[in-house]
Amino acid sequence: MSSFDNHIQRRLSAMKNSFADREAYKAMLDSGDALIYEVYENRRPEVAGELLSGLSIVHPGRVGSEYFMTKGHYHSVRDTAEIYYCMQGEGLLLMENEAGETAVEEFSPGRVVYVLPRWAHRSINTGKEDLVTFFVYPGNAGHDYSTIDTTGFRKCVVEQNGAVTIVDNPKNNLPHTEVSFHGAGA
Ligand code: F6R
Ligand code: ZN
Repeated sequence: MSSFDNHIQRRLSAMKNSFADREAYKAMLDSGDALIYEVYENRRPEVAGELLSGLSIVHPGRVGSEYFMTKGHYHSVRDTAEIYYCMQGEGLLLMENEAGETAVEEFSPGRVVYVLPRWAHRSINTGKEDLVTFFVYPGNAGHDYSTIDTTGFRKCVVEQNGAVTIVDNPKNNLPHTEVSFHGAGA
């Protein structure tokens, strides 16, 4: 990873409002501050016309039944898109917009996922190895974490009876619609 010029490590203690099961969160934190995900960035000026890129690595694991994931965010400049290319692992990109729509795209090696402008996005590792994606987005996009940090996404991705399952987030009461799902075959 030596060619990247910034390395972010996001640990459990920095994700207080992210996981739905607060008891499981506290119990896990009591036994150590697990490394949930890492980001390696290529620094460029944060202005229109530039592209920002890097690697996102979400480690495998769960807090209660909910899979390890990124905090997730909107872009501050809402009309900016993003592209992810999955290099390794299995997972989902959970997305929602301010109209209450949810969309889920599957990550598997070689798959490209496009995040439309105005959609919040969160990477979720549903597999047993690291989920590694390459991302690229406009230099002027910026990040709005507070909207998601306050309400959470409308949906959570959990393991239920051994299967990856999308459920309503018990912490989020905002109106929402059906989930649209796109897997590797669609
Ligand atoms: C940038 C982007 C990704 C994420 C990375 C970590 O706009 O979407 O590079 O920043 O996957 O997730 P967050 O930023 O939600 O902690
Ligand atoms: Zn983004």
